[in-house]
Amino acid sequence: TAGSKLDEDFINSEINPSLIRDNLRYLTKGPHVAGTQDELATAQWVADQWRSQGLRDVSLVPYDVLLSYPDSRNPNRVRLVSKTDGSVQFESSFDQEPLYAPEEADDKILNNFNAYSAAATVQGDLVYANFALEEDFEELVRLGVDVSGKVVIAKYGKNFRGDKVKTAQERGVLGLVLYNDPADYALDGYGVYPNSVMMPPSATQLGSVLAGKGDPQTPFYPSIESAFRYPEEECDLPSIPCQPISYGDAYVILKSLEGEEAPAAWQGGLNITYHLGPTLTSGLELQLEVHTASRPVTVYNVLATIPQALDQDPDRYVLVGNHRDAWALGAVDPSSGTASMLEVSRVLQAYRNATGWEPRRSIVFCSWGAEEFGLVGSSEWSQQFSRQLMDRAVAYLNIDMAVNGNYTFRAQASPLIRDIIYNITKQVPNPDPAEVDAGRPTVYDTWLERLADLDDLSRPWIGNLAAGSDYYSFQQVLGVSSVDIRYTDTRIGEPLYHTVYETFELVDELYDRGFLFHAATTAVWAKLTVALATEMVLPFSYKFYPDFIRSAVEELEEMYGDLVASHNTTL
Ligand SMILES: *[C@@H]1O[C@H](CO)[C@@H](O)[C@H](O)[C@H]1NC(C)=O
Ligand SMILES: *[C@@H]1O[C@H](CO)[C@@H](O)[C@H](O)[C@H]1NC(C)=O
Ligand SMILES: *[C@@H]1O[C@H](CO)[C@@H](O)[C@H](O)[C@H]1NC(C)=O
Ligand SMILES: *[C@@H]1O[C@H](CO)[C@@H](O)[C@H](O)[C@H]1NC(C)=O
Repeated sequence: TAGSKLDEDFINSEINPSLIRDNLRYLTKGPHVAGTQDELATAQWVADQWRSQGLRDVSLVPYDVLLSYPDSRNPNRVRLVSKTDGSVQFESSFDQEPLYAPEEADDKILNNFNAYSAAATVQGDLVYANFALEEDFEELVRLGVDVSGKVVIAKYGKNFRGDKVKTAQERGVLGLVLYNDPADYALDGYGVYPNSVMMPPSATQLGSVLAGKGDPQTPFYPSIESAFRYPEEECDLPSIPCQPISYGDAYVILKSLEGEEAPAAWQGGLNITYHLGPTLTSGLELQLEVHTASRPVTVYNVLATIPQALDQDPDRYVLVGNHRDAWALGAVDPSSGTASMLEVSRVLQAYRNATGWEPRRSIVFCSWGAEEFGLVGSSEWSQQFSRQLMDRAVAYLNIDMAVNGNYTFRAQASPLIRDIIYNITKQVPNPDPAEVDAGRPTVYDTWLERLADLDDLSRPWIGNLAAGSDYYSFQQVLGVSSVDIRYTDTRIGEPLYHTVYETFELVDELYDRGFLFHAATTAVWAKLTVALATEMVLPFSYKFYPDFIRSAVEELEEMYGDLVASHNTTL
């Protein structure tokens, strides 16, 4: 039976949407932030599920790492204060108003913060810097607005928030305030949560601003007991304070900003005219008080195996992974993925039980800890086992969120894995009945209709992997071909990302009533796993490699060609 094909229909028919829903209900009953007792409890629960499914070698793998938390007794604040007498005219809220699901009011939910922000109180004039991209700061220079020695307020979006802090810090900014503008996160005509998936005025996006990957005290080495740890002062952590606020609060602050009108392209969705600063009305200044601090904690990965047949070339692995830690309830990020991964393992083990099937290569399920802080759990594990993984891991199949929209399937992948993704999505029935009625019976068909590759409209678009989730260590560091998939809405993104409103109810009542989109994503994930773990010749195709290399070289030339030429070198 080794390497034997699965009955093609088994996966489609065995996947049970209501079990995925049950998993999600359990995982999201409270917050599960990395380094907390609640998160350890989810690790133990995932391990228990895998044991009862009959998986082998179930284990918790701990690492001692440096994470970062707000001070619960001394919340971070953004204030408008009078320059003359120091009186406080406005103070931002430090948490998000419970609006719908009871668990939004859980007192273990952390106050608003950006992990690894410096702790400091700063005060000064304020400049509005659009998205705080390098080019936005260049534009401010052109417009004659100096940001050094000032506080900057900027919008989330367009790039990684850690890069915004880095850029601001390099420009001499005192402190950075981030918010989500309604033009990007609360589009007109939809309403807001709980009536829609758009951001309400009190929603605040939490997130890490760590520039590196993994435990900051042990770069490139695993955080095991014997590891040398850099003292915190020597770690590459932000040196300025940074704090997220809601757009309800940003409205009050931006309304008070004077100076030149911001360029037309920088105007946002608040009902005001955006100004650049640096002065505020009535002699006010902006005060930013941040008490976020680092703390050594233990984080846990959970691993489990469906072992390969004994008569096969030993120790070849197909890794299937998802992170488990969330900023709050995490119903989308990551628990929609965790709920689905538990169904992938159950279905494959059920098939094994029913038929005696054994994969040609071992399937290793990985439930990562502390992804949100900087891909910490997956980085430490891949650093510890880098040699074995480089030699023996065949592929890494990641899901961060399984469903953050129901408009289309979306994939990012190594060029080697693209062809098999196309083939497999043609074998998974379309979860959207309206699309089936429109003559598009498979996941592939709607994907092609709604997200075609603009370079070749005859196929759906598959993006390149960057550094946004746990595939990073595998694809970019170890060279293990990887993929990241989800169901999403490419038109609106995920407005409630990293807010307290990522609730079970959001998923159950708005994103995926019936959990059919979760089931479809789970089917693609399971079938990819089986194809890579079972087929004698790995289902890799070089078809998309030449294009990939050509465009990667073009991009390299565009970004660094001049720099390379200035060193008398060519590519
Ligand atoms: C403008 O928007 C803010 C923030 O959403 C809101 O609090 C305020 O009531 C609005 N004002 C008007 C005049 O619509
Ligand atoms: C597989 O069989 C074992 C042993 O009977 C059982 O404990 C386990 O729950 C079964 N797994 C599934 C997914 O049915
Ligand atoms: C798909 O998502 C939208 C929100 O973006 C929601 O209004 C709609 O009801 C969802 N469809 C299903 C079947 O859940
Ligand atoms: C995908 O399907 C096509 C058509 O059946 C086949 O020729 C190709 O080899 C498949 N690709 C992979 C990677 O299995």
